[in-house]
Amino acid sequence: MTSIDNFEFAHEHRRDVVWMSQNTNTIPMPRAIKDAILRSVEESEYNLYPFKRGLSGLPEAVKEDLGLEEQDVLITNGGIEGEYMATRALLRPGDEVISTDPSFLPIHDQIAMAGARAVEIDIYREDYRLHADWANEAATARSRILLLIDPNNPLGSGYTRSEVRALAEVAKDHGLWVIHDITYRDFNPGHVLASEFYPDKTLISYSFSKGPGLAGMRVGALLGMPDALTPVKKYDTNVLGTNVLAQRAALAALQCKGEWLPMVRDIVRKNQEIIRTAVKKVKGCSLPVFPSMANMFVIDTAQTRVDPDAVEEHLLHDHLVHVRAGGYLSKRFGSRFVRVSFTIPTALCAKFGDAFPKVMEALASAKP
Ligand SMILES: Cc1ncc(COP(=O)(O)O)c(C=O)c1O
Repeated sequence: MTSIDNFEFAHEHRRDVVWMSQNTNTIPMPRAIKDAILRSVEESEYNLYPFKRGLSGLPEAVKEDLGLEEQDVLITNGGIEGEYMATRALLRPGDEVISTDPSFLPIHDQIAMAGARAVEIDIYREDYRLHADWANEAATARSRILLLIDPNNPLGSGYTRSEVRALAEVAKDHGLWVIHDITYRDFNPGHVLASEFYPDKTLISYSFSKGPGLAGMRVGALLGMPDALTPVKKYDTNVLGTNVLAQRAALAALQCKGEWLPMVRDIVRKNQEIIRTAVKKVKGCSLPVFPSMANMFVIDTAQTRVDPDAVEEHLLHDHLVHVRAGGYLSKRFGSRFVRVSFTIPTALCAKFGDAFPKVMEALASAKP
C-alpha cells in the first residue's frame, strides 16, 4: 500500500487514528480560538472577500510575535504558499538553493518548479544540523538562496544563536537570500531569527499550523523588509486574500498564546519521554536527536533492517497509529527512519508507546 492510500485510510478513520504523521497538533486549544471562528460564521463574514492586507490586527500581531515591527507581512494560505512565491520570484533556471538532506522536500519541489536545484547537504550525521562551513563549501556562482529550516523537519534539531549568525554570514558573504523557515519556532524557546543578523535579504516563512494547531485552516505568513518583499509580491497569485475564518482563528491564537504555548510545550516534553521509553525497548532503534526542538523527531530503524514503509503500514492498519516513513523526507536516508510527531494528547501518545515495540518485534521476526 502506498503512503497516499495510508492517508486515505487515516482520513476515513480520522476520529480513531492517532495522528503522528504530519506534525499537526491535535491538543485541545483554548476555547477562544474556536469561538472566534464560530463568531465569524455567525456573522457571515465569509460573504465578503477578506481585506487583502489581512484582518485588522493580524499582520501587526504576527510582527509582534516575532519582534519584527519594522518588517512587511504577507498573509498567505499557509507558510508553504509564501515559500512558493519566494522561490518563484527569486530563482531563475539553473540557480541553486543550499539546503539539507533530510529536509521538507515539498519546498525542494517548488525550487524545481522555478527551474532551479536544491543542493542537499547531508545532515543525517552528528550533530544533525547544517554547519556554516558546509554551507560555505556548497556555495557556487549559481547559488541564490540558503534555505534554513529551523528547527529542522524531520530531525527536530534546532540552531543556536551563534550557528544562525554564522549561517547568515555565509549567505551575506555570497550575496544569497536566506529563507528562514520557522514553522516549528514555537517549540524552541531559544529560537533566533536570521533577520537579526541579515535583515536586508532574509525572508521569514511563518506558520499557524503547528503551534496553535491550525493546519487545516491553511494560514501562514511571509515576512521581510519592505524592499525584500516587494519583488516577491509580484508572484502573489492570491490577490483576493486568505480565508477569513482562518485569519480569525490565527488572530485569536496569537491573542491567547500565553495560555496555550506553555501547555503545548509541556505536553511535547512528556510525549518525547514516552516515545523514548518505547524506542529503548527495541534493539537496533535509536533517536538521533533528543530532545527535539520541534514537535517531531526521527526514529532510526536502520540496524533492525525493517522497512520504514512497513512500520508506517502496520502501525496504522493494526494499531490506528499513523507515523510517516522516511522516504517522504529524504531520498538518500529515507530507508533508515520513521518520523513521529507528538503534538497530541499524552493519553494518545501512550498508544504509540504500546504499539511501536510490538510492531517492530513482529516485523523483525518476520525477516528471513
Ligand atoms: C518545514 C516546513 N515548512 C513549511 C510547512 C508548511 O506549513 P504550512 O502548513 O504553514 O503551509 C511545513 C509543513 O509541514 C514544514 O514542515
